[in-house]
Amino acid sequence: MKYPDEMANTMNTKNKNHDATRPLRVGIVGCGWVAGSQIERGFSQLRDRFTVAACCDADHARAEDFALRHGIEVVSEDFAALLAEDLDVISICTPPSLHHSMVLGALAAGKHVICEKPFTSSLRLMDQVIAAEAASDRRIMPIFQYRFDDGIAKVRSLIASGLCGKAYLSSVETAWLRGADYYDVPWRGKFATELGGVLLTQSIHIHDLFLWLMGPAAQINGFKTTRVNPIEVEDCAVASVQMADGSLATLSATLGSALPVTRIRLCFENLVIERQCFGTEAKNPGAEPWTITARTPDLQAHAERIMSEAHLGPRDFAGQFADFATALAEDRAFAVTLQDARRSLELISAVFHAAETGQTVQLPITADHVRYDGWAPSHE
Ligand SMILES: NC(=O)c1ccc[n+]([C@@H]2O[C@H](COP(=O)([O-])OP(=O)(O)OC[C@H]3O[C@@H](n4cnc5c(N)ncnc54)[C@H](O)[C@@H]3O)[C@@H](O)[C@H]2O)c1
Repeated sequence: MKYPDEMANTMNTKNKNHDATRPLRVGIVGCGWVAGSQIERGFSQLRDRFTVAACCDADHARAEDFALRHGIEVVSEDFAALLAEDLDVISICTPPSLHHSMVLGALAAGKHVICEKPFTSSLRLMDQVIAAEAASDRRIMPIFQYRFDDGIAKVRSLIASGLCGKAYLSSVETAWLRGADYYDVPWRGKFATELGGVLLTQSIHIHDLFLWLMGPAAQINGFKTTRVNPIEVEDCAVASVQMADGSLATLSATLGSALPVTRIRLCFENLVIERQCFGTEAKNPGAEPWTITARTPDLQAHAERIMSEAHLGPRDFAGQFADFATALAEDRAFAVTLQDARRSLELISAVFHAAETGQTVQLPITADHVRYDGWAPSHE
């Protein structure tokens, strides 16, 4: 089996080439936690390909301090000033509600864009971004850096080999822990700024891995509630899913697990693929080890051989940013596409709608669906 997105990646895109002989000049907006991670675990490991040249933050002192710590030359006064700088790429690391306008602003200013999850507050806005990118000679890449790790790369090549046989049942659990200190940051916990809770902010990564491995969902039921923290957005959610290939899946997510765990269990006709990781490792579901249990020793040996031959690249943010630079240089699609970001938001829209109406939601969600304009309560 060849994954459809791999076929898309081999298609020619518009000529949006960059002079690959010099590093891409990056400007970061939002100098908080994830911006630091993008530099430490990403850009700083790829100095021949990226120079983080400028940054800005609504809190100017924070931007100054960030620039000092990371050796960034220019601290811009605000986002408009950042866009006026001589930069190739803007990386958007601000709270979720700001992503949509900043993505469009950066694109209009002639920059390539990297944008953190969750991408926008609705499928309508997501589709606007997809249309804007298509009409532009610049490119946009959504962040899903969990895809870039050795274990997940091996599992994906195993599934792509066709050896697993028919998919039967998947269970995907994101049981993490967040307390009052996490919600001290004012933008968290509110629909207006965070856009949602555990589904938007935490399990979005794990569900992206799942959809990337197992293909699109076809219909969804779900429940959600807020029980862990006194916040507006959901912190516990479950969904039952029928996939487009007919297999079934359960997704569950909570922010109230005293022992954080991420579990992915994919049950196929010929073998079972499993990963469970606890504590601080719960944030590394794509890493090794994954356990493969095949029905016969021959299948087991074959599966292990396929996985040992998988192509492994740089990991984490460095892996996704390396793909970004290579894709621009080779004029091909990114490994993580805007359609992937859309699919992640479509799943969330569906779980919200199912949970709030008791209805089964058929995918895809298109412009005629009541949740096309968003899942937050103001859109009900
Ligand atoms: N990919 C990942 O693994 C990952 C991990 C954590 C967070 N995130 C995502 O990254 C984004 C930021 O999260 P964070 O934890 O870094 O938040 P944060 O609060 O640590 O940082 C956000 C920064 O944006 C700044 N900001 C707010 N409004 C601004 C504006 N108008 N202009 C410029 N700066 C502004 C804030 O002052 C703050 O410094 C969120 O979308 C979050 O979901 C992704």
